[in-house]
Amino acid sequence: MSNKINIGLYGYGVVGESLHHVLKHSKTVDARVSKICVKQKDKKRSLAEDWFTYNKEDIINDNNINLVVELIDDADEAYDIVKRCLQNKKSVVSGNKKMLAHHLDELIALQERTGMALLYEASACGSIPIIRNIEEYYDNDLLKSITGILNGSSNYILSKMFNEGLDYDTALKQAQDLGFAESNPSLDVDGFDSLYKIIIIATHALGTYVKPDEIFNYGISNISDEDIQYAKEKNLKIKLIAQLIKLDEESFTMFVIPLLVKPGKYIYNVEEEYNGVVIQGEFYDKQFMFGKGAGGFPTGSAVLSDITARSHNYKYEYKKQKYFKKLNYRTDHEIEIYLRYNSIEDLSYFKFENITEKYSGQEYNYVVGKITLSNLLKLKFILPKLDVFLAYIRN
Ligand SMILES: NC(=O)c1ccc[n+]([C@@H]2O[C@H](COP(=O)([O-])OP(=O)(O)OC[C@H]3O[C@@H](n4cnc5c(N)ncnc54)[C@H](OP(=O)(O)O)[C@@H]3O)[C@@H](O)[C@H]2O)c1
Repeated sequence: MSNKINIGLYGYGVVGESLHHVLKHSKTVDARVSKICVKQKDKKRSLAEDWFTYNKEDIINDNNINLVVELIDDADEAYDIVKRCLQNKKSVVSGNKKMLAHHLDELIALQERTGMALLYEASACGSIPIIRNIEEYYDNDLLKSITGILNGSSNYILSKMFNEGLDYDTALKQAQDLGFAESNPSLDVDGFDSLYKIIIIATHALGTYVKPDEIFNYGISNISDEDIQYAKEKNLKIKLIAQLIKLDEESFTMFVIPLLVKPGKYIYNVEEEYNGVVIQGEFYDKQFMFGKGAGGFPTGSAVLSDITARSHNYKYEYKKQKYFKKLNYRTDHEIEIYLRYNSIEDLSYFKFENITEKYSGQEYNYVVGKITLSNLLKLKFILPKLDVFLAYIRN
């Protein structure tokens, strides 16, 4: 593409508006927004009316626009926009992890067919440059696992509950007011946002795309004072993590779950809206990336980085898919969990392989034991309705 970039921008919300600001302050890239497509006609905007269109076709069919930046909060609409722009020979930058996690395999094939690029650094961990690093630096078979706090809102809520004693609803409201939380908070607190991100990361880190329904994700929306008390008594913190683990030369697993974290672990001190990602590999042991995982300006900066990368014609090569043996995704992996429950009926859903600790009290009960991910996966959609909370205990 020519170095001069004319951007068609979809979405002028938290990230879209911040990107516009970040772009104005960036001297290194010759890019300007020439049209913005939004949804609501009667919404008050910080720019004059003639910047905006309400018809998505106005960008898709504008021959002067040579890069599309998609920052809307509707994954189905985003999918249609991204697909049609690529088909119409326009490269795209997107921050929409939900859309990407559901359609990445197809969108990779579409990039191949059209020769266009789709970049999405902002979709995982906000300002932390995780995707391009994995694609470029970790393009070998040394990588063993990735463990990350990938959702700023949940981390913010957990920090406020642990450190300041706030109740869950107040902490969630604060995260929403500060612009960290998704429009639909369940995406954050039930672990879906982290799930979408680990799917995108796994596609680059290990070369295998797995559909969201095939992966266990569980969040923090059922956390109670008893769970926090349990963690504090054992000098642990609870952090919502996503993890992928290479099990052997043939296979890997991944999941999203609250983790009981010991002091001394890199992610123990990741607080508030920050994200932290630990990459473990042969020979280099552990590396840690840390930064703001949400919010308009951090995310806008990641989008700017993709825009700059496009000015140098950068594309993802999907090296792990192209040049490495495909790893199989498995769910027969066993993990140790803490399960707080109230009724024996709720407990009966869980098929533990073994139980190492049991507690029954007047206020609450818990067990600690080993269970396979496949058993948890079967419960994925029932779990949020049960009066239980579970957390992963890792040695
Ligand atoms: N906020 C973050 O910290 C963050 C971090 C990483 C990634 N992201 C991702 O970035 C994207 C945008 O997030 P956000 O926080 O900026 O959302 P937001 O503040 O809710 O803004 C969404 C924008 O999308 C527009 N929109 C929705 N449906 C549309 C449609 N059909 N056609 C055109 N415009 C449409 C809205 O238009 P109106 O203005 O007319 O309502 C609004 O401007 C999402 O995919 C999100 O997952 C966000």
